[in-house]
Amino acid sequence: MNNLLTMSELTECEIAEILQEAQRFADGAIWKSPNQVFAANLFYEASTRTHFSFEAAQKRLGLEVLNVGVESSSVQKGETLYDTVKTLEAIGANVVVIRHPQDRYFEELTGRVGIPVLNAGDGCGNHPTQSLLDLLTIQQEFHTFQGLQVGIAGDIRHSRVARSNAEALTKLGATVYFASPEEWKDERNPFGTYASLDHLIPQVDVLMLLRVQHERHDQGAGVQMQHYHETYGLTVEREQNMKPGSIIMHPAPVNRGVEIADALVECSRSRIFKQMQNGVYVRMAVLKRALSGVKGGIAHEVFA
Ligand code: CP
Repeated sequence: MNNLLTMSELTECEIAEILQEAQRFADGAIWKSPNQVFAANLFYEASTRTHFSFEAAQKRLGLEVLNVGVESSSVQKGETLYDTVKTLEAIGANVVVIRHPQDRYFEELTGRVGIPVLNAGDGCGNHPTQSLLDLLTIQQEFHTFQGLQVGIAGDIRHSRVARSNAEALTKLGATVYFASPEEWKDERNPFGTYASLDHLIPQVDVLMLLRVQHERHDQGAGVQMQHYHETYGLTVEREQNMKPGSIIMHPAPVNRGVEIADALVECSRSRIFKQMQNGVYVRMAVLKRALSGVKGGIAHEVFA
């Protein structure tokens, strides 16, 4: 079963294959499913980029899209995640894309459902397709991960993006550094070394900023937000000290003027909208991979 739940489960070789396939789609390759295939999207948390780039990817591959509105579904009557996914499988979904606020929600599904699960984000846990689109964006820029220095800055503790990326980048030969307020350090993440943002700015090839995840913070506790931008954000002054050729990334949505100065969101170093564009190609590759392991899913490769 070609689930995609975490970056840990992918070997270097599998990551390379997914990125190669995604790059083919980015370069204009067309592939349509030869069979009628249904893809269900089940989002228990808000999403713009992940949800709609999965949907765009599904439509580009010629799949039939089932968007489950959690707020208008029987989830509201207390139906469990497991029963909801079993129901989608029973009515003909061939693959399901899930975002859920609970870390590792997928553990209650693995081995119990008969269709591939693609994780579109689990709580503070993992965001594998975000990581893959970030890797594609970095690969397009630098053509290798070996020896790259990557700084990940901000709300490390609550970030599934930081967790997935730090692990994947380390596996691929990059060196990862974290910069974070004390309260948002994550000592359980072994894939990065902490340094101050001002120390990292002139040294890193990639500066990845993270969204401040207000929805995952305890009310009244933690970081003082009024000085966040000056202390921990990418200001216009800091950008001027960045290494020549280095790039700025952010998974978005961006809190403009908080993690990054408004004027820098679309500056020449920024790859933020490129990341979103690459999200469609990566999700096409991940869907195609998932369906290639499904009975009646995808019979053969036809690129045009
Ligand atoms: N980057 C990301 O996951 O964005 P969405 O929450 O809009 O999907």
